[in-house]
Amino acid sequence: MTNETTRNWKPATAMVHGGTLRSQFGETSEAMYLTQGFVYETAEAAEARFKGETQGFIYSRYANPTVDMFEKRMCALEGAEDARATASGMAAVSAALLCSVKAGDHVIAARALFGSCRWVVETLMPKYGIETTLVDGTKMEEWEKAVRPNTKLFFLESPTNPTLEVIDIAAVAKIANSIGARVVVDNVFATPLQQKPLELGAHVVVYSATKHIDGQGRCLGGVILSDKKWIDENLHDYFRHTGPSLSPFNAWTLLKGLETLPIRVKQQTESAGRIAGHLACHPAVGRVIYPGRNDHPQADIIARQMTGGSTLICFELKGGKNAAFRFSNELEIVKISNNLGDAKSLITHPATTTHKNLSDDARAELGIDGGTLRISIGLEDADDLIGDIDRALEKA
Ligand SMILES: Cc1ncc(COP(=O)(O)O)c(C=O)c1O
Repeated sequence: MTNETTRNWKPATAMVHGGTLRSQFGETSEAMYLTQGFVYETAEAAEARFKGETQGFIYSRYANPTVDMFEKRMCALEGAEDARATASGMAAVSAALLCSVKAGDHVIAARALFGSCRWVVETLMPKYGIETTLVDGTKMEEWEKAVRPNTKLFFLESPTNPTLEVIDIAAVAKIANSIGARVVVDNVFATPLQQKPLELGAHVVVYSATKHIDGQGRCLGGVILSDKKWIDENLHDYFRHTGPSLSPFNAWTLLKGLETLPIRVKQQTESAGRIAGHLACHPAVGRVIYPGRNDHPQADIIARQMTGGSTLICFELKGGKNAAFRFSNELEIVKISNNLGDAKSLITHPATTTHKNLSDDARAELGIDGGTLRISIGLEDADDLIGDIDRALEKA
């Protein structure tokens, strides 16, 4: 097999060729290695492979050629030394967090987290003796105030789900570095194309590959990226022995997704920018939160830290939950779904779905109320989407 190294390719080139492992057949498209295990010519060869004296695959819970290609292509995009692919985004988040700390350590996390991430921090980690504190991630003084002698890890998502708050990653990393703590960033909403947490000082980046990386609503997946030493020392054994591994079939689907990621994200962001501007002028719409707009509360940080807007828009309907439900039900092209990053435009009512488990106070703190909607813009023609939105707003 030959391994296609990425040299100094630009993202669009690296996403088509990066990490490709060609077999003896010289296939054009990446091969799907649907195999659980691997065979050895001799017992001695098996022994040498297990001892690490020879390179090669052993068992697909440890590593698999198709999964390996996906990990290498993600490294090329993120500028990371190493990666481990997981069966879902939540497997990536929970592995990255749990493998960074031990009982007695303290974790500080931004409170604006996707519901399941917040459950891992607030409910799961304390069960195993890990102390956790949630802060308003946009306020650097809150991160500083929360630091304890045993603080080992900072965790944040930016832009946040669903209100698209943007956290100053470089400033958070500076505080963490000053006390020797590590920073894990969930970069799902930005995508690897619009924000580079490792360049901003973060130590670990995680993705739900289910979202833009697949981008066509087919399979679940996740990935953790960091330096090789951290992955070797912290994730290697965890992956071998607990098995959150990505299936080769899903890895192949995600590899195909990566080939079109740059062009999809560019188009979806362009349409989202237009639609955000349109929504902001509509009398039925209260506030519009969109990272590409000058009135975004963290517009200055976005200008420094992100290279594009977003494929997502958060907005308020003035008529509260009733108006939000009527509007969603009237949409024809945009579908109601809690997913995002898809080729199909999707609308979510966070208060009753993704963030329904939070208390009313916690939701209010995050700025989510009955009229809040999150829309993920897909690959449809933007004029058709605007037509669909206008018609539904009219009827609602
Ligand atoms: C910000 C964020 N992180 C993590 C996840 C979890 O990803 P998955 O559904 O692939 O487990 C999601 C999913 O919605 C998300 O929005």
